[in-house]
Amino acid sequence: MTKKILILPGDGIGPEIVAQTEKVLAFLIDQRGIKLELEHGLLGGCAVDAAGVPLPDETLAKAKESDAILLGSVGGPKWDTIERSIRPERGLLGIRSGLGLFANLRPAVLFPQLANASTLREDVVSGLDIMIVRELTGGIYFGQPRGIKELEDGQRQGFNTLVYSESEIERIARVAFEIASKRQKRVCSVDKANVLEATELWREVVTNVAKDYPDIELEHMYVDNAAMQLVRNPKQFDVMVTTNMFGDILSDLASMLTGSIGMLPSASLASDGSGMYEPIHGSAPDIAGQNLANPLATILSLSMLFRYSLDEAQIADQIDQAVSQVLTDGLRTKDINAEGMTCVGTNEMGDAVVKALSSQR
Ligand code: IPM
Ligand code: MG
Repeated sequence: MTKKILILPGDGIGPEIVAQTEKVLAFLIDQRGIKLELEHGLLGGCAVDAAGVPLPDETLAKAKESDAILLGSVGGPKWDTIERSIRPERGLLGIRSGLGLFANLRPAVLFPQLANASTLREDVVSGLDIMIVRELTGGIYFGQPRGIKELEDGQRQGFNTLVYSESEIERIARVAFEIASKRQKRVCSVDKANVLEATELWREVVTNVAKDYPDIELEHMYVDNAAMQLVRNPKQFDVMVTTNMFGDILSDLASMLTGSIGMLPSASLASDGSGMYEPIHGSAPDIAGQNLANPLATILSLSMLFRYSLDEAQIADQIDQAVSQVLTDGLRTKDINAEGMTCVGTNEMGDAVVKALSSQR
């Protein structure tokens, strides 16, 4: 049966980087005979403008019918001051939760060609290959109550709630252990169990799940230490599993170890294997529409889509190799540019990846 892919370009640089990724998709469909049905939809600020809400019912319905979703990015200053409940980011959280995408995989892998693009010393980052498993539909991002209220003395008070149930912790821990069993068999669970009860429970549940995986080495680390260790000696990590908010923060940190946040893809998976694929970076409104954005994180997200939702590991490998090839050829967008390299725009980078794909085998 032909698989259905829903494409949500979103806001800011989203449409540009997704357009490059669609060039890769078109090539695979036209030249490699991959059968896919592509649909487009609105999510984020563009949906607010067109439909008054960041996640229109139509988008969620289409998403539920799709085998996988490719997303650009959402948000921008234009929508930063509108009513909170209809801000673009709420649309993103809504689709993650509406589809049950609880497992967010964020691989921080350094392409050897970019070892000198990191702000850290080459010997610290070369060979880096970490998989961050971020819980995506729970924790403080979704906990109730939340809001900003007025106190009796007239000042306002903002509040959010960090909550995790045992089943939420258990299922994300299992994802991490399963992934680790196909890698170096080490899991580092990141929490703040010395201060926060919700993550004290997190630690206890992860420890219990580990009993089902006797060949996996489990370590626990407080989040502050984990941030420090990621900069001090990132290669000590194999799989890291953590809460929604800690994962948000640590994955941005880890991205800079690989040279640029413009390089990191992600997969958000539901328990039935369906998923949404997006770069971990934001919509970068400051460079939108200027042919400056790096499309590689989105193209690598497409690779993850083939690998995890379509079971097409070979196509995924080919996309990864094509990205590696353009880097070997010395092509760089501005964010990863270095002396002696050829600085190219968003469009040119997309074309180069397609060219590299077409010259394979
Ligand atoms: C991410 C982003 C989102 C998040 C924002 C845009 C809501 O930072 O995917 O990491 O915080 O999850
Ligand atoms: Mg983030």
